[in-house]
Amino acid sequence: MSESGRLATGLRSDVCGALRASDAERRVRLAGWIHRRRDHGSLVFIDLRDRYGIVQVVVDAATAPEAHAALVDARIEWVIAVEGVVTPRRAGTENEKLPTGAIEVAADSVRILSQSKTPPFYINEPDAPIDESVRLKHRYLDLRREPLRDRLLMRSAMVQAIREVHHEHGFVEVETPILIKSTPEGARDFIVPSRLQPGSVYALPQSPQQMKQLLMVAGFDRYFQIARCFRDEDLRGDRQPEFTQLDLEMSFVDETSVRGFVEQMVIEVTKRTRPDRPMQQLPFPVFTYEEALERYGSDKPDLRYGMELIDLGAALPAATGFKVFDDVRASGGRIRAIRVPGKGGVARSEIDDLTERAKRHGASGLVWIALQPDGEIKSPIAKFLSPESVEAIWSASGGKSTAPEGDLILAVAGERVLSAEVLGRLRVEIALEANMADPEILAFCWVHRFPMYQWDAESSRWDATHNPFSAPVPEHVELLATTSGDVSKRSAGDPAGGALAQQYDVVLNGWELGGGSVRIHDRALLERSFALMGHSLDDARAKFGALLDAFEYGAPPHGGIAIGVERWAALLANQVNIREVMAFPKTQSGSDLMLEAPSEPDAKQWSELGLSLALKPSTPRK
Ligand code: AMO
Repeated sequence: MSESGRLATGLRSDVCGALRASDAERRVRLAGWIHRRRDHGSLVFIDLRDRYGIVQVVVDAATAPEAHAALVDARIEWVIAVEGVVTPRRAGTENEKLPTGAIEVAADSVRILSQSKTPPFYINEPDAPIDESVRLKHRYLDLRREPLRDRLLMRSAMVQAIREVHHEHGFVEVETPILIKSTPEGARDFIVPSRLQPGSVYALPQSPQQMKQLLMVAGFDRYFQIARCFRDEDLRGDRQPEFTQLDLEMSFVDETSVRGFVEQMVIEVTKRTRPDRPMQQLPFPVFTYEEALERYGSDKPDLRYGMELIDLGAALPAATGFKVFDDVRASGGRIRAIRVPGKGGVARSEIDDLTERAKRHGASGLVWIALQPDGEIKSPIAKFLSPESVEAIWSASGGKSTAPEGDLILAVAGERVLSAEVLGRLRVEIALEANMADPEILAFCWVHRFPMYQWDAESSRWDATHNPFSAPVPEHVELLATTSGDVSKRSAGDPAGGALAQQYDVVLNGWELGGGSVRIHDRALLERSFALMGHSLDDARAKFGALLDAFEYGAPPHGGIAIGVERWAALLANQVNIREVMAFPKTQSGSDLMLEAPSEPDAKQWSELGLSLALKPSTPRK
């Protein structure tokens, strides 16, 4: 059966967008929204729209006076039903831009199903700029517009492909509960008070992490879920308080086997969803965290352009005479740089702006060296650079400049990680401003072997860099065992600080798409890891008791990953904000402008929950 026929209902025999020249002479019934109307006296032309597309309907007063009369008052966005005959358009009036453009429907019956007020913005102008808050307040109208509609259709196709590929590989889809106990992923929990147990709360899951591990203990050796997650954290373009993960877990695996499946699945889903978008490199390149930091100043490198970080320190003599460089190196820091092609003629004001940005990112300053095509350099530190040093800078950064304007070296001296991260951020910003990335290309990569813990100087303890359940790489298990479990003996020099985790992120075009790990499946080791992170045994048992207990009943080695569905869909749709692939997203301050959530509970709800509010609710923010 044709797509169109399959969608027939009482009011329609076909859908608007599916009619073609081959349907000519058929009598059809259509229903949809008036996208446009043009009045040519006795002839009225309607562009009738449904989610499948648009078809032109023509009503002639001479042959269909009643239908014509019914349309006299009709306006855009009214919902109508028409009946008529599919007719080839007259030669020269075909519309090649419209898939239905070879035909029109000559209607002899028109019925108004529903009227519409004038919408707050034009539905029929896909490129019109519309205030974001107006779009969000009237999301149901924004969703009628082609761009957002198409993105949601793409997201639906993507989720369908995810399900298909997982089923093809023997995965079982399991839904885990939303009312649970805290599952920490580094954000605050949203909590829900219990009416049946006053004074107690549920937490909404930040992820189904503990449940999926329990499913492994239960023997469901390949699990996946399209899981809704909730995190109370500051929002950005790639973060919403409520979002969806493709969450999966596998048993009897090591890191290579999990990454192997995930990579195959990601490639397959991407191809099924956007067969037109080329993938830069297959298999995905793999970087250790250290390598990604050294080369790109980021644990989520965008590989669509070069500008890799340069170790300028290695090119310079131990003492340059330039105090900033010499001091940084004396204190164990690094001098790093990036080389911006074609920017040798940079203006003073641009340098000031770049310096300002470097400082905002945490650097104490930015040093610039303009490399001229004739081999000369211009720089405020030129007098500290011997001819040998200049030669070394040229060769360390890729040789003589070929750009007529020359190239620009931007250098940051500072602490090892900070100096890399500042340049990593400048690299991304400069590439964005100069349109260096091909917008069609999808550049995936893996980053793995993250440090297991980071030292939190404030509370004198180790914190999980990613997930507290991640396992150390096998050769570093010992480092956990040899670190004292005694909180008072903890220091930044503990052996555990050198432990690497079997933790991996999948990165796409500079965004962290997903993260996962091989887990600890041994109770004693997990308790030791929690102890390192400052949890007392009681505390660990109170928070993660179910998982710890479960590990005493035969836990298989297991590992998995979660991939942000919105991030994936946004990148496939070339969007910079995940809101653009969500039906009903929230604003920066977590508001739903359409439903006006969050809102004050009514007095009855408070009393049923046995709660009262100490503070006066603040005025809602947008
Ligand atoms: P993680 O916290 O890295 O890992 O999350 C996995 C992926 O979820 C997406 N994501 C978000 N998307 C939109 N809005 C947010 N606020 C948000 N937070 C996270 C990202 C991220 O890469 N349980 C582990 C996974 C595991 O170890 O298996 C976890 O949740 O794309």
